[in-house]
Amino acid sequence: MGKIYILGLGPGDVDSLTIGVVNRVKSGDKNYLRTENHPTVEYFKNNNISYKSYDYVYEKEEQFIDVYQYIVDDLIERAKEYKVINYLVPGSPLVAEKTVEILLKKEEENLEIEILTGMSFIEPVIQLVGRDPVEGLKIIDGVEFSFSDIDINVDCIVTQVYNMRVASNIKLILSEVYGDEYEVYLINSAGVKGQEEILPTPIYDLDRIGKIGCLTSIFIPRVDKISKKIYSIADIIDTMEILRSDKGCPWDR
Ligand SMILES: C[S@@+](CC[C@H](N)C(=O)[O-])C[C@H]1O[C@@H](n2cnc3c(N)ncnc32)[C@H](O)[C@@H]1O
Repeated sequence: MGKIYILGLGPGDVDSLTIGVVNRVKSGDKNYLRTENHPTVEYFKNNNISYKSYDYVYEKEEQFIDVYQYIVDDLIERAKEYKVINYLVPGSPLVAEKTVEILLKKEEENLEIEILTGMSFIEPVIQLVGRDPVEGLKIIDGVEFSFSDIDINVDCIVTQVYNMRVASNIKLILSEVYGDEYEVYLINSAGVKGQEEILPTPIYDLDRIGKIGCLTSIFIPRVDKISKKIYSIADIIDTMEILRSDKGCPWDR
């Protein structure tokens, strides 16, 4: 019988660690980090809390899927060996964390899993841009980004913009849909005091304006209905609904 606590480290600031997570990492059980490339690692170092990270697997395996599979298999082995272990991931374990997704699907006998969540990067990003997600918000993976992911009628956050190649690819796709001049935001280290950065930029400058790293996202505001110059299929459906309604056009009913 083994147990894995999956813990969320929050967006990066030590102040955003939850008390539940802090108590668990201090429990004396072994701590495994998906990556130590995250500002909250300072907390472990400053408090002499030991941990192991899986960063070496990213260098060892060529495909991401092999990295995730390796980590999951290793965690299960370590849980069997030590009975209880902690597995820590950035942000919330339930937002864009492939290893957690795979782990939760494992129907391993004698393996118990408990999640202590953390704040996702989404919260500080919406605070930075001052938008309420109730108006519509889509989260898109920047690595597998394509035209069909885009919805111009809602705000979009593109994640995993971790290097220049990914940023340039996103820029090309965005400029096809929104045009080169449309203003988006490059966001770095949201929620991390002293490090957070929000850079408004026309799409054509997106991959030239600031640093790009493991805490970089792109925010794309939805297209304003009044000054709209571009349209999606949803707009055509809206127009058809108006035309075919009682108050619509007599020829379209
Ligand atoms: C694999 S996802 C993990 C998200 C994490 N589980 C969460 O809930 O925050 C990693 C991506 O999230 C985004 N990200 C994470 N923390 C961020 C932060 N503090 N500021 C901006 N973007 C962040 C970046 O796009 C990064 O490449």
